[in-house]
Amino acid sequence: MNHPVLLSEKNIASAISLIDKVFPYKEDRELARINFIETLEHKNYGQNYWFATDENGKAVGMTGLYLDQKNKDYNETIWLGWFGVHPDYRRKGIGSSLLDFTINEAKKRGFETMKIYTSTDENEGAAHKLYENHGFEKIEHSKNTEIIYYSKHFVGR
Ligand SMILES: CC(C)(COP(=O)(O)OP(=O)(O)OC[C@H]1O[C@@H](n2cnc3c(N)ncnc32)[C@H](O)[C@@H]1OP(=O)(O)O)[C@@H](O)C(=O)NCCC(=O)NCCS
Repeated sequence: MNHPVLLSEKNIASAISLIDKVFPYKEDRELARINFIETLEHKNYGQNYWFATDENGKAVGMTGLYLDQKNKDYNETIWLGWFGVHPDYRRKGIGSSLLDFTINEAKKRGFETMKIYTSTDENEGAAHKLYENHGFEKIEHSKNTEIIYYSKHFVGR
């Protein structure tokens, strides 16, 4: 995997093709597309997305950071967004490298906490193992909802 590069006008077409491979649900793919376009138009403060390519320049993984302006800890917490690896390239350590890269980017921006919004959907089971391996703790999982939140604090670690 090459070092991740920021989303740009140049790579948005391959980024959007990668979304279609990574995320199984149409609603997620549409939302990701909107977020990418808004990011290039500088409409959403705090959003950044990166793509990793293989040696032939093919986009194989993506990751991102965003701020949740509706949240009370808006200034202290950064969120992992649109994180995934092309299905043909999984179990090769790409997801793990991308998560380390993203954690490092969050630290460089001075954040002390990183959170993840995920769900009980079986497609996300692999991601949960990966998050837990990287020190994220499940902080909220209400029985009445499919939503799960993970969190990791950087201070002193
Ligand atoms: C989650 C995902 C990014 C992992 O990417 P990856 O490149 O395959 O991950 P890695 O090869 O770096 O795996 C790292 C660790 O994660 C865990 N893991 C990854 N895939 C797994 C799977 N299918 N089953 C169980 N554990 C898994 C393992 O602990 C693995 O370590 P190991 O290979 O030493 O056992 C990938 O499966 C994916 O894109 N899933 C769909 C998108 C998604 O769910 N995104 C997150 C939304 S919240």
